[in-house]
Amino acid sequence: MSPDPDLPDDPFERLYASVAGDARRVPWARSEPHPAVAALVGTTPVPPGARALVVGCGLGEDAEAAAEAGWRVTAFDRSPTAVEWCRRRFPATRVDYRVADLLDPPGEWHHAFDLVIEVRTLQSIPPASVHAGVAAVAEAVAPGGTVLVCARIRPDGPVPDGPPWPLTRGDVDAFTTHGLPRVRLTQALARAPLGRDTAVLFRRPR
Ligand SMILES: C[S@@+](CC[C@H](N)C(=O)[O-])C[C@H]1O[C@@H](n2cnc3c(N)ncnc32)[C@H](O)[C@@H]1O
Repeated sequence: MSPDPDLPDDPFERLYASVAGDARRVPWARSEPHPAVAALVGTTPVPPGARALVVGCGLGEDAEAAAEAGWRVTAFDRSPTAVEWCRRRFPATRVDYRVADLLDPPGEWHHAFDLVIEVRTLQSIPPASVHAGVAAVAEAVAPGGTVLVCARIRPDGPVPDGPPWPLTRGDVDAFTTHGLPRVRLTQALARAPLGRDTAVLFRRPR
């Protein structure tokens, strides 16, 4: 069957555009932040003026939680429909929602953020590009800044059909090759309805 020329190529944009604003039909959408994001922003003091970046923000739950905790938040997604949806969903938001591609980020994001939150976006990138994605996430972290990565982890071996393409330990550990030592790993955090994530924190030394 040939693809419908009226539908976007990006499977995420296609899904967001096809559900007519019904968040119940977006499998990863919820009304609250990821538990690892809630735990981190609930316990981390926010330095004055500190900036956070939320990668592949989807429908904005994690971005809103970070903004509520006091971070100056930029949140982006490649899907224009998702970004428009966030703005409509949170009309009084303080988050700067943008359309952007993690694999081609704006130059001004270089080492610009004290906190970078990545929930299930790296595993949404085709495996051939995942290390470029890791490099781009790492690149956004300022000296002294932290990145939180939440993803499903799979054993080494054959690459599953995706999306999602759960990450290998090696994919996650690639942050260390970008100058970000690991500071914490939390196994098997539940996030209904999509199963269990591993949450890993890395920090760029000052
Ligand atoms: C599984 S969803 C997770 C959304 C959100 N982080 C959450 O946990 O609810 C993956 C998101 O990544 C976005 N995405 C995929 N590839 C991307 C890219 N290259 N740049 C920016 N966003 C991307 C998709 O549009 C989608 O919103």
